[in-house]
Amino acid sequence: MSGVVTTSLPLALLHRGKVRDVYEVDAERLLLVATDRVSAFDVVCAEPVPHKGAVLTQVTAWWLGKLGEEIPHHMLAADARGIVEAVPALAGHEALLEGRAMLCRRTTVIPVECVVRGYMAGSAWKEYREHGTLAGEPLPAGLHDGSRFEPPIFSPATKATSGHDENITLHTMASVVGEAGAAELERLSRRIFEIGTGIAAERGLVLADTKFEFGRTADGVLLLIDEVLTPDSSRFWPAAATAGDSRPRASLDKQPLRDWLQGERDAGRWNGEAPAPPLPDEVVQAMSARYLDAFRLITGSDLPLPPPT
Ligand SMILES: Nc1ncnc2c1ncn2[C@@H]1O[C@H](COP(=O)(O)OP(=O)(O)O)[C@@H](O)[C@H]1O
Ligand SMILES: [Mg+2]
Repeated sequence: MSGVVTTSLPLALLHRGKVRDVYEVDAERLLLVATDRVSAFDVVCAEPVPHKGAVLTQVTAWWLGKLGEEIPHHMLAADARGIVEAVPALAGHEALLEGRAMLCRRTTVIPVECVVRGYMAGSAWKEYREHGTLAGEPLPAGLHDGSRFEPPIFSPATKATSGHDENITLHTMASVVGEAGAAELERLSRRIFEIGTGIAAERGLVLADTKFEFGRTADGVLLLIDEVLTPDSSRFWPAAATAGDSRPRASLDKQPLRDWLQGERDAGRWNGEAPAPPLPDEVVQAMSARYLDAFRLITGSDLPLPPPT
């Protein structure tokens, strides 16, 4: 199993994101195909990470299955057979679609990343360390990397078309989506975070933080879209290592890749810009195993793997 870097399907390609190839099915539907591309420090690596795309899509599908009763979302189908039944033009492409593709309701994306944080980590820690704030709002002194936020903090960010996402204030968010829109996005994001936290806890995981995207259908319905509570969009920490209000913990995410790339940077072998240095096979294999582990830890079952070809 070597992994998929780019796809070419008999539909109009709308967008190649860092990870997903997005195809138009018709005015109401999109096909999101998660490739095995992996990025870190905003640079996409040349080597695919086998099974990564399927893990991201099937973790999302698993969560949307749990959230579906309460949270309107975009998923129509996430199994190859169901997709081909709904979109006959894709017949013959089942092997590529299997696991990694999701047929979705098409929306206009709301240009705000809805971030919810239960613990201090990542860019929140960076902003707090430098300014004592999060999204411009002052936080109490004396917090550290890994501090718990109770209640969780809603900290929206801009969906940057290039470069790093930037934390924005609630006020700025309201100027983009309106007061009522901002309140509704915050309510939904907090509720999904709460449901996710509860389910993760049953699985021995702490949901430290996550990012949601929302969109509106042509008839104005607000839907949860994109990837949901995956290891790429969230930090999950093993609960055992999170007892009390302690230090930052190893998450299920792509930290080994960041560590390896950082090592290349520190050694002066990489300047931090594209192209990324070629990844050694053991880094690729470690990442692949880590994504499969993440699937099992989150859902409680192994990802069904396609038969070897
Ligand atoms: N239901 C949907 N309707 C419209 N756009 C969507 C929907 N779900 C996801 N998207 C968009 O599809 C893209 C997914 O590709 P991805 O590789 O994650 O891109 P990015 O590099 O922007 O994160 C994102 O731009 C996301 O906003
Ligand atoms: Mg994305």
